[in-house]
Amino acid sequence: MATNSAPTQPNGLDFFAADIRAALAAALDLPASDFQLERPRNEAHGEFAFPCFRYAKGAGCNPPELAAKLVDQLQIKDVTASSVGPFLNFQVEPKRLATVVMESALMPAYASDQQGLTSIVEFSSPNIAKPMHVGHMRTTVIGAALARIFVHLGHEVVRINHIGDWGSQFGKLVAAWKRWGDEDRLQADPIAELLQLYVRYHEEEKEDESLPADAKAAFQELESGEENQTRETWKHFTELSLREFNHVYERFGIEFDFVRGESWYEDKLEPLSDWLDSCGVTEESDGATIVDLTSEGIKTPCLVKTAHGTTLYATRDLAAAKSRWEEFNFDQLLYVVGAEQTLHFQQFKAVLKRCGAEWQQRMEHVPFGLIRLAEGKLSTRAGRVIGLADVLDRAVELARAAVEEKNPELEGKAEVAEKVGVGAVVFHDLKHQRQKDVVFDWKEVLSFEGDTGPYLQYTHARCCSILRKAERPVVSVADIDPALFEGGHELFVAIGRLPQALREAGQKREPMLLAHALLKIASAGNVYYRENRVLGTGDPALEDARLAVIEALRSTLALGLELLGVPVPEQM
Ligand code: ARG
Repeated sequence: MATNSAPTQPNGLDFFAADIRAALAAALDLPASDFQLERPRNEAHGEFAFPCFRYAKGAGCNPPELAAKLVDQLQIKDVTASSVGPFLNFQVEPKRLATVVMESALMPAYASDQQGLTSIVEFSSPNIAKPMHVGHMRTTVIGAALARIFVHLGHEVVRINHIGDWGSQFGKLVAAWKRWGDEDRLQADPIAELLQLYVRYHEEEKEDESLPADAKAAFQELESGEENQTRETWKHFTELSLREFNHVYERFGIEFDFVRGESWYEDKLEPLSDWLDSCGVTEESDGATIVDLTSEGIKTPCLVKTAHGTTLYATRDLAAAKSRWEEFNFDQLLYVVGAEQTLHFQQFKAVLKRCGAEWQQRMEHVPFGLIRLAEGKLSTRAGRVIGLADVLDRAVELARAAVEEKNPELEGKAEVAEKVGVGAVVFHDLKHQRQKDVVFDWKEVLSFEGDTGPYLQYTHARCCSILRKAERPVVSVADIDPALFEGGHELFVAIGRLPQALREAGQKREPMLLAHALLKIASAGNVYYRENRVLGTGDPALEDARLAVIEALRSTLALGLELLGVPVPEQM
């Protein structure tokens, strides 16, 4: 399990938000947690806005009157309140803002009020014997980012890869293997061979009646739990497939706490059936066992056992959920799975609800939109899905060409290209709203300008380069005259908002919020170093201050990018 011990003092702009909320609480006689601060529509009005509508009635006046009254009443250290109609705006004294933001940006970790929550994030979960295609990218990348964000917020995080390694399709595969399998081809390219067998099975199934019969028998053999030839073959396929998946995970820098395929819950299926029966929710329908869900407003019943007595995807998910609850006592269990499986998750949660398992409320399906390739060379060839590894390879190849052009002298170009290529693909995915479809266009993904991963990486590398050239350590903020931070206000506000962006990204399960906060930071950072010469000003104190700003920018970008899963090269 991954945990982080972050300090608990509010960080960045949160520091001032806490004071403002406390002052509002005292003035309106309500708990501080009641107050949501917003962002003023016009940045010139300050850093925080507070709409008075909800509180006016309680205060016995209309919202503009309340706003005006509060302006007179509130006394907040380093913060000036003003009113515009029904809104209160708060402006932090700029030098104080600079100092507080700089201090917290240069601290190793941000604070969190969510320490100790246990969050399970289930993500990636590809199916063995099939390639990881672009469709698996979103779950993998979004899930990993959410897991890292939760760790950062202080949760105990359990990352589970729920590999699809069980089900009737493996009976089919074993039957096909027995007829047409070739060990040499399998060793050379396991997934291609298995996929080929699977496709052939479906082509020949119609003509050859013994084929489906063999497949059914093979799956029954698997489900019997006995150590037999079928099981050996299946194990072999699983191992080879996992090896392939691991290559992709390595490139993404992703690790799991548990790689538990559906088969891992094998010995929990019988007890689960018994439990469902004892809860009185099962019934028979044409020889199969189902749970009716009309009482939960779901028309389609949940099928938990086929007429042949074999289990289903949903059965295994029920067993997995129950076992996870018993093992981890989670506060939240997130399933990062495509939107097309929404009904499945509604169904099995509803089954648990009917069983009186209150904890099902802590389970949440985190759906996402599809990924579509813009027309071009790498778009789907007839009937063929595009492998995720191919997408990464192509991205790295393009990144390599870009690096070659920009910085031909660079050492370790291959490594940098890998980081830029993979980072570009990851960032492109995460900058979109999770539920929306993503159109994948190579040109856009790999551009060094605009809202891209390479742009952020480049900004970070620029900072590294300035710091390298300075050839001296960054001094502590306490030793810098805050007046020398002049010119950085926009950047400090952007950096200061990061803790809030992280919290919201976690709450809304939306890494995009972090991605956008980083873009804002990078663009303010670019303006800063363009307009404020860092080295060679001839004024050592000024140079110290500006170098510290560059280091704050660098470390903030590095932190944010790492949380998203975008590698951060020091040169590019
Ligand atoms: N293996 C499934 C697929 O690729 C996804 C599994 C999602 N997780 C779950 N607990 N059902 O479609």
